[in-house]
Amino acid sequence: MGAARLTSFVGQPLPHDSAHLHVTGAAAYTDDLPEPRGLLHVAVGMSSKAHAKLLRVDLQAVADAAGVADVCLAADVQGENNIGPIIKDEPILAQDIVEYAGQPVFAVAAKTVDQARKAVHLAAIDYEELEPILDPLAAVGKQSFVLPSETLQRGSPREAIADSQHRVKRRLQLGGQDQFYLEGHIAMVVPEEDGVLRVYSSTQHPDEVQRLVAHATGSKAKDVVCVCRRMGGAFGGKESQAATIACIAAIMAVKTGQPCKLRLDRDDDMVMTGKRHDFVIDYEVGFDDSGRIQGIDFMFASRCGVSADLSGPVNDRTMFHCDNAYFLENVHIESHRCKTNTVSNTAFRGFGGPQGMFAIEYAIDDIARTLGKDALEIRRRNFYGIGERDTTPYQQQVEDNILHEIANKLEQDADYQARRKAVRKFNASSSVLKRGLALTPVKFGISFTATHLNQAGALVHVYRDGTVHLNHGGTEMGQGLFIKVAQVVADEFGISIARIRTNASDTSKVPNASATAASSGSDINGKAAQAAAAKIRRRLTEFAARHFAVPEASIDFSNDRVTVGSDAISFEELVQLAWFDRVSMSATGFYRTPKIHYDRKTFSGRPFFYYAYGAAVSEVVVDTLTGEYRLLRVDIVHDCGDSLNPAIDMGQVEGGFIQGVGWLTSEELWWNDAGELMTHSPSTYKIPTCSDCPPDFRVQLLSNAANREDTIYRSKAVGEPPLMLALSAFHAIRDAIATDDNPLPDLDAPATPEAVLRAVEGSRP
Ligand code: MTE
Ligand code: HPA
Ligand code: MOS
Repeated sequence: MGAARLTSFVGQPLPHDSAHLHVTGAAAYTDDLPEPRGLLHVAVGMSSKAHAKLLRVDLQAVADAAGVADVCLAADVQGENNIGPIIKDEPILAQDIVEYAGQPVFAVAAKTVDQARKAVHLAAIDYEELEPILDPLAAVGKQSFVLPSETLQRGSPREAIADSQHRVKRRLQLGGQDQFYLEGHIAMVVPEEDGVLRVYSSTQHPDEVQRLVAHATGSKAKDVVCVCRRMGGAFGGKESQAATIACIAAIMAVKTGQPCKLRLDRDDDMVMTGKRHDFVIDYEVGFDDSGRIQGIDFMFASRCGVSADLSGPVNDRTMFHCDNAYFLENVHIESHRCKTNTVSNTAFRGFGGPQGMFAIEYAIDDIARTLGKDALEIRRRNFYGIGERDTTPYQQQVEDNILHEIANKLEQDADYQARRKAVRKFNASSSVLKRGLALTPVKFGISFTATHLNQAGALVHVYRDGTVHLNHGGTEMGQGLFIKVAQVVADEFGISIARIRTNASDTSKVPNASATAASSGSDINGKAAQAAAAKIRRRLTEFAARHFAVPEASIDFSNDRVTVGSDAISFEELVQLAWFDRVSMSATGFYRTPKIHYDRKTFSGRPFFYYAYGAAVSEVVVDTLTGEYRLLRVDIVHDCGDSLNPAIDMGQVEGGFIQGVGWLTSEELWWNDAGELMTHSPSTYKIPTCSDCPPDFRVQLLSNAANREDTIYRSKAVGEPPLMLALSAFHAIRDAIATDDNPLPDLDAPATPEAVLRAVEGSRP
C-alpha cells in the first residue's frame, strides 16, 4: 500500500475553477472575446405574426440604413436552410410562410450592434394571415402534432380504476418556463483561410453547432471548428437552439466574408428561443381505502411549438417520470406532442421529467385529501418496494431504491410530524394566514434516453514540467463540470489540481461529443478523462519499472511524487526522463455507459443506468385574502452518491430547488390572442431572487451513499434532479389553502398569487 494520499482531490469541496474569475469579472464569455478586425454585428428580423404567408419581404430600406453591410433572406442560405436537430422540420430563416411570432425571417449585418438592431425595424413585410393554433388543447382538437402520439400501458388500468373503492379525475394546467440564463444566446463566427469557419458559441453542444453550421453554409465538419470556454448559464436552452444563432452568424460571415457576431438582446432571446414545455394533463386514479393506487390513466398534451426540436425525447421523459417514486401496477399513459404556432419548445432542466412528476404528485395529494390522511403516509404506501413492486411501467427494475431511507431520514431531521401538528394548530387559530407543509420525493433516471448519446471522449497531454492540458467533450455552464473532471485527472496522476488546465470545449480537440445534458456531464466525461489519464500513467509506470529496474507494483503516484521501489522522485522528474526515452505523453480516452438498452417502439428496457434520489420538506405561509405566500423553511436530503465535490453539489441542489420554485410559483409565460409572448423581459416575467430563498434553508447531501453502479468514484449526477424537489413548495401551498369546505383546491401551476386566490375562492376559470 502506498503512503497516504495528501493530494487526493476527489470528494473535496473545492471552489469552482473559475470562481475567482467570475467574482472579479475576468471570466471571458463569448461576448468578451477580443473582436477581430472588420467584425460585423448581426441582428435578426422576426415575424410579427403567429401564422401567415410571406407575400413580400422588402429589405431595401434595411440595406440602405446607416452602417449596414449586408442583409440576408432564406434564399441566401448557402447550404441547407434547416435547423432541426433530429427531424428536419424547421427553417433557419422563414421561407414563404411564418409559423410563430418571433420566427427569424431575415438577418442584417452592420458595423455596430445599434446600427444592426435599428435597421431591422425598417423592413417592409406583407403578410397574409392564417389561422393560428395557440394552445395544446386546440392542437389536440385539430390533430396538429409535431410527432406521432405515444402510449405506454401496463396491466389493466381501466378495469382497475373501475373496480377501485375511490376515484379522482382532474385536468391540470402546468406552465412552461424560460431558461433565463444570465448570458443570452450568442455566437461569433470568424472566417479563416480556405473556407474554414471558427465558431465561438455559447452552446451545450459544440458538436451539433459544428454539424449544423456545416450544413447551413454548405461545408463539411472538417471546415468548421466550434469553441466554447464557458456559458453564463444554459439550463437546457442551449442544448439544441444555440445552433440557430450560430448558423445565422455563419451564413452572414460566409456571405460577407467578414467575421460576424450575433448576440440576442434579452427580449428577442425570450421571444425567439424555446422554453420548457407547458402541459395540459388529465388523469384519473383509482385507489383503495389505504390510499394504495389501483390504477391510473394519464393524458399528457404538451406545447411543442412549431417544430419537433427535442420534443420527442422530452415527452418520452415525461412518460418515464410520471411514476416518480411510485409503483404503478395498472397504468395507461398517453402523450401528445402538440404543434402550435408558438416558439419551438426545447430542453429545460429535467427535460420533461418534472412535468410527469408534477402529475403523479398531484394525484397522490388528491388521494390523501380524499381520504383525509397525511400525504406522506400515502406516498409511503405507494413507494417502489425493495425486491417486490419494483419494476417501472417501462420494465426497468428499480435496483437501487433508497426512497424509504431518505424519507425516514428527512421526516426525522425536518421534525415533520411535530411540525405537522404545529401547522394544524396554527391554522385552527388563524383565519387569514394559513400555513402548509409537504414532503415530496424525487427519483430521477440518469442517462440520455437515446442510448447512443451516452458516450464521451477526452484528450490529455502531460507536458515536461509536469503540468497537464485537459480537454473533454463536456461544456461548462456554471455547473462545475470542469473542476470535477480536473479533480478526477489530478487523482489519476497523484498531482495537485493546480497543475491541471482545463481548456475550452473544442470540436477539434474532442470530436462527436454529445450535448452536456441529461445531468450526465461528470459521469461520462469524468470516466473518459480518467481513461485518457490512465493510459499515460500506464506508460509512465512501464517506463519507470524498466528505467529503475523495479517491479511495476512498487510504483505509485501520489502527492506530486512517484514512488519507485524504495525511492521517490517528483512527477516532473519522471515525466522528463520519460520524454528523454521517447514515451508518448498524450492520450485520448473514451467512455460508453454500460448496461443500458431501450426499445423505443415498445417503450421498454433499461433506459437509465441508475436513479438519483432526494426528498424535500417545504413549509409556507399563505395570505388567503391576497393569495401571496412565503416559503418559511425548507429541508432537503439529496443523494449525490459519493459526491465528487460536495461544495459544487450543494450549489446544484440549492440552485436547482430555487429554479424549480420559480417554475411552480412565480414564473408565468403569457401569450396574447395573437400568439405574441407578452412576458419577454424581467419586468413581466418573475424569476426568483435572493429574497425568495427560504430564510431557513437546510440542505444535506446523503452520506454513505456510494452509487451501487460503477460510476466515476461512485458519484451520482446532480444537475437536474434537485429541481423537482420544488414540488414540495407547490404542495405546501396547496396544503395551506385546503379547507373542510374546499378539501381538494384546484391549484394550477405556476401558483402565482392570482392562481392561489382563484383556488382559495374556488373560482378557477
Ligand atoms: N447549473 C448551472 N449553474 N447552470 C446551468 O446552466 N444546467 C443544468 C444543470 N445545472 C445548469 C446547471 C442542466 S439542464 C443540466 S442537464 C446539467 O447542469 C448539465 O451539466 P452536468 O451534466 O455537468 O451536470
Ligand atoms: N436528456 C437531456 N437531453 C437530451 C436527452 C435526455 O434524455 N435526450 C436527448 N437530449
Ligand atoms: Mo439539461 S435540460 O439536460 O440541458
